Amino acid sequence: MKDEVLILGIESSCDETAAAVVKNGREVLSNVIYSQIDLHKLYGGVVPEIASRKHIEKINQVIKKALEDANVTWDDIDAIAVTYGPGLVGALLVGVAEAKAISFALDKPLVGVNHISGHISANYIQDKNLEPPFLCMVVSGGHTHLVMVNDYGEYDILGRTRDDACGEAFDKVARAIGLGYPGGPKVDKLSKEGNKEAIHFPRAVITDYPLDFSFSGLKSAVLNHINSSKMKGEEVNVADIAASFQDCVVDMIVSRTMLAAEEKKVKDIALAGGVAANSGIRNGLKNACAEHGYNFYCPDFIYCTDNAAMIASAGYYEYIKGTRHGYDLNAVPNLKL
Ligand code: KG4
Ligand code: ZN
Repeated sequence: MKDEVLILGIESSCDETAAAVVKNGREVLSNVIYSQIDLHKLYGGVVPEIASRKHIEKINQVIKKALEDANVTWDDIDAIAVTYGPGLVGALLVGVAEAKAISFALDKPLVGVNHISGHISANYIQDKNLEPPFLCMVVSGGHTHLVMVNDYGEYDILGRTRDDACGEAFDKVARAIGLGYPGGPKVDKLSKEGNKEAIHFPRAVITDYPLDFSFSGLKSAVLNHINSSKMKGEEVNVADIAASFQDCVVDMIVSRTMLAAEEKKVKDIALAGGVAANSGIRNGLKNACAEHGYNFYCPDFIYCTDNAAMIASAGYYEYIKGTRHGYDLNAVPNLKL
């Protein structure tokens, strides 16, 4: 194995078209992200067809810029890592087809990467010393997983959501209180102006599976609160709703993470995924870790939401283990971790 392995990462699973060059899984040489958010905002959520079409339009430009920013040529790239699931099938296909074409044309190894494994690996970029085993709480728009990272790319899922993903709950509540898409950052901002004790929303617990999550009841509780306030002619304080909702989510995440950490006797706890950008969750988990004596890890905001550097990092650890995919690699929308 060479001393320096450069991986080109490609990510197109949802509404970000992204490419990045990463050295040895940890050092980001470039990280280019074309966000489609402004396009999808008009429709209140991601429109899969529009996402696929935009990925096709942008992917070559984004990859070219990733090579330029990294100041490297195709000759310097050792392998192509691409997200092949989970995600929107049409969107994934664009990245997968692109990666296969590059791999074939330049005779470079192709490594398919699980998007969630990518989110977890964002922590390797952030902290050069973090090594498995550790516990990782993954909270994104489509996924909520409490994961034991046993080794690079080797995971045990300890808890998962039974219904909505955490980010989905943020986006739905945002819509209910009249904030636009994507709702997560807006709820986060508004919550700072509200009183988190104003409304007590239920903290759902699944009796036999205490590490699992359920967010749909919380979303319904928010809607019920809005409707019953309106029926009683009471003013709906959206900042209080945002603060109380966020506090409830933070409680659910922190309590389960602490429970799992105790069970698994870990020293290190990481956070990952788009919702890891949430100030309440970041601070809540950071404080709980400090209180209980765990080391806390969390990627910078830019590596929390979808990006290709995290895919290149996960791809690097697959590559050095010998994982290779053929030209029959396909998009797998419901790929499991
Ligand atoms: O990981 P991600 O970029 O895409 C998926 O893989 O799903 O996550 C996007 C999700 C969206 O639901 C968005 O509302 C949420 O992350 N999000 C936030 C914040 N920033 C992004 N949720 C809460 N607070 C934030 N600050
Ligand atoms: Zn994601």
